Amino acid sequence: MKTIRTPDEMATLLAPPSGDAPMAHVVTPGAIDVTHGTILYLEDVSVSFDGFRALNSLSLTLDAGELRCVIGPNGAGKTTMMDVITGRTRPDHGRVFLGQTLDLTRMDEPAIARAGIGRKFQKPTVFEQHPVWENLELAMKTDKRWHATLRARLTRDAAASIEETLATIGLAQQAWRPAGELSHGQKQRLEIGMLLMQQPALLLLDEPAAGMTDDETMALAALLDRLRGTCSMIVVEHDMEFVAALAGAHGRVTVMAEGRVLAQGTLDEVKRDEAVVESYLGR
Ligand SMILES: Nc1ncnc2c1ncn2[C@@H]1O[C@H](COP(=O)(O)OP(=O)(O)OP(=O)(O)O)[C@@H](O)[C@H]1O
Ligand SMILES: [Mg+2]
Repeated sequence: MKTIRTPDEMATLLAPPSGDAPMAHVVTPGAIDVTHGTILYLEDVSVSFDGFRALNSLSLTLDAGELRCVIGPNGAGKTTMMDVITGRTRPDHGRVFLGQTLDLTRMDEPAIARAGIGRKFQKPTVFEQHPVWENLELAMKTDKRWHATLRARLTRDAAASIEETLATIGLAQQAWRPAGELSHGQKQRLEIGMLLMQQPALLLLDEPAAGMTDDETMALAALLDRLRGTCSMIVVEHDMEFVAALAGAHGRVTVMAEGRVLAQGTLDEVKRDEAVVESYLGR
């Protein structure tokens, strides 16, 4: 069983070494209209694979700045939902909007990424030969031609932004180590840092704690806690103690099953929901 730590304990796990390092500079790009307080709308979304409904009239909204945990049994459609949001899979039916105005069903994957949606897959993909610092540098929004970036002199702003991100992801001490030498948990945090360099408005994380040790899992929870409010997040996860650490007493948790929302509420509320107990927790 994993140890649940208090928020204070989690915060100290990832506290920057200098004590007063600034938070990562993550801002919502102006193009996303969140005047109604909602950053993501999924309405009546269906996706079929050879007649099988992976998403079955799924409706879900996410508040700007919210960290939403999504749980549910294998095959519930959680990853498919992320595929739809990122443009990897086209829905057969339904509406998917980023803010009030951006219709994600009409945008391709690169356009959706540029609009401010970052996605973390389960397996970390970092440049193993390059130091941690350079991985963050390569991920910066300003210059995708990374061969040129490597040779170019960094502006002071860019360097400051990398320093901030290093502090946020708790890897300031590892800045000049090749990424290939990092532990699995550190690589996962580095990859999140690389996504942060793109200043996403919405981060999608699919089972980010999978394969992590207890300490790595809680360091990840602390990292996501630090990002709270700077970008909106959807975290799909099976590890219930990790979910408990992220959701706290008041965070909203969505339970998916059979391609739709089965229940939604605080973790305590959904844990008490009979349908949830039957289809998921009671297994
Ligand atoms: N490209 C595809 N082609 C055919 N079937 C698919 C495809 N992608 C997903 N599915 C099916 O859709 C259903 C939902 O899958 P999905 O991966 O979204 O579930 P999940 O909730 O992420 O499950 P897990 O917790 O195991 O990751 C599954 O039955 C899966 O086999
Ligand atoms: Mg999945």
